[in-house]
Amino acid sequence: MYLINGKEVKKEEFNIPVENLAIWRGDGIFEAIAIHNGYLFAIDKHMERFAKSAEKMFFDDIDFTKIKEDLISIASKFDNGYMRVIIGRGTDKDKSDVYIFYQDLINFPESFSLQSQKAHWQSGGDFSLDEVENIGSKTISYAMNINQTRLAQKSGYTDSLLLNKDGIVLEGPTFCVSWIIDNKIYVPSLDLGILDSITRRTLIDIAKEAGLDLKVENIHINDIYNVDTVFALSTAKHGTFVSQIDDQTYTEDPLLEIIRQSFSDFIEKERQLKK
Ligand SMILES: Cc1ncc(COP(=O)(O)O)c(C=O)c1O
Repeated sequence: MYLINGKEVKKEEFNIPVENLAIWRGDGIFEAIAIHNGYLFAIDKHMERFAKSAEKMFFDDIDFTKIKEDLISIASKFDNGYMRVIIGRGTDKDKSDVYIFYQDLINFPESFSLQSQKAHWQSGGDFSLDEVENIGSKTISYAMNINQTRLAQKSGYTDSLLLNKDGIVLEGPTFCVSWIIDNKIYVPSLDLGILDSITRRTLIDIAKEAGLDLKVENIHINDIYNVDTVFALSTAKHGTFVSQIDDQTYTEDPLLEIIRQSFSDFIEKERQLKK
C-alpha cells in the first residue's frame, strides 16, 4: 500500500518529482518500523524520534497523529515486514510531502562480517549534542553510509563498521553495534553522535528488566578484536551475530541467544498489552 500526504495512490503514482529537494539535496527524514503479527513494535518511540528529527530539520506543520494512524492502519493488514515513512522537502522549500509504504520482510544473513572504515562525514564525538543541535537526525542523506557498505562488500565482507578519526567504534551504516565481555553487555555512547537507535534503547530496557549486566561504554577498534562476541542491532536485526571484524573471527557467546529470545518476549509482551 502506498500513501502520499495521507491519500492512497497506486504503485505507478508513488513517485517523487526529480525537482524536489528531497531528491537532489537529500533533504528529508525517515523512519522504518517493524511489523510483528500486525503490530508496529515501539511505534511511540519511533514517532517521538521522527518528530524530533522534523523539529531539528525544520519540517513544520506535520500532522504526526495522522501519520501514526495511517501507519497502524496499514500495518494491521500484514503479519510481518516494515512500515516506512519519509518526509521529503518539495520543490518549494516551505512545502513538504509525507510518503508511507509497506515493505516486505528482508531476509538478512544469519551472521555478518564487518570491515572497519573511517567515517569522515560523521561527527564521531568531535561535537557535543548540545553544541550542534541536528546531530543524530534520521535524515535520508545516506549516500555515504550506503557507499561504505558497497566498499566493504567489494572486499568480501557483509557490511562496514564505521569508526571515528581516532578509531573509536561508532555504528554500522544501517545498524548499531553491541558487544559482550565476560557476560556483560556493552553499547556505545550517544555522545559519539551515532543514531539514537530504538533497538539499542530496547536492549537497555530489556537488560534492566531481565537483570542483565549492561554498560554504556566506547571501544577502540583494536580492543573490539578481543571481546567475546559482537552483534548488530536495528529494527530489522535484533542481535545478528558478527562472525568477523577485519581479520578477527569470533564465536557466538550463549548470552546472545538469550538476548534474541528476550527481544521476542519483550515484543510479544508489548503487543499483548497494546491489544
Ligand atoms: C546509522 C544507523 N544506526 C543505527 C540504526 C538502528 O536504529 P533502529 O534501532 O532505530 O532501527 C539505523 C537504522 O536505520 C541506522 O541507519
